[in-house]
Amino acid sequence: HKVGFIFDLDGVIVDTAKYHYLAWKKLAEELNFDFTKEHNELFKGVSRKRCLDILLNLADATATEEQFDIWMVEKNRDYLAYIEKMDASEILPDVPKVLDFLKKNNIPIALGSASKNAQPILEKVNLLSYFDTIIDGNSVSKAKPDPEVFLIAAEKLDVPPKNCIVFEDAVAGIEAANAGNMTSIGIGDAKILQEADYNFSDFTEIDLDFLKKLAKV
Ligand code: G6P
Ligand code: MG
Repeated sequence: HKVGFIFDLDGVIVDTAKYHYLAWKKLAEELNFDFTKEHNELFKGVSRKRCLDILLNLADATATEEQFDIWMVEKNRDYLAYIEKMDASEILPDVPKVLDFLKKNNIPIALGSASKNAQPILEKVNLLSYFDTIIDGNSVSKAKPDPEVFLIAAEKLDVPPKNCIVFEDAVAGIEAANAGNMTSIGIGDAKILQEADYNFSDFTEIDLDFLKKLAKV
């Protein structure tokens, strides 16, 4: 009855949404569009390319293929400047508690993220060594809510999907976990993540007894 745990990155392990927000807001200003935190909600769990599509739509703007690529590069350059300054203090509360528990019990751990910057972020916050495999925006062709990212993670961990437990903060991520026949745990607003099998506002609400039950140890 081997189980595996899969973590989303942005909004689950670290709060990078604020940096994505600042980088998108700067680009939006060039388009004369007032990009708000509410708009930023739409971008959670969504690929960079799809985010720019949505932004152009919101701003009533169009772009040639060339201009589109320039903006993609520009947004990422600004985002990387924020990531550059990240350190372990930006790990969300009690994430290490959960990772340590899993490691101590030899339970395999994967990252399942839409971000192409996942690896450098894990390095910055010093968590890379916890992960047995990293499936990110560089290794998938179909974005969440497609289950591809989590199914590849399960395969790499050599754990059947139905024995995988996924932590997610985005609706599309919960949908992806459910579509993959996995146990989904929503981290954040339970009203927004109501399709999840379990809901917690953050990892401080998750106790070791619950983890033991999930991990079957
Ligand atoms: C995560 C974030 C999204 C972001 C996506 C791609 O899913 O929640 O807001 O757009 O990753 O990130 P990237 O680092 O590749 O631009
Ligand atoms: Mg996320």
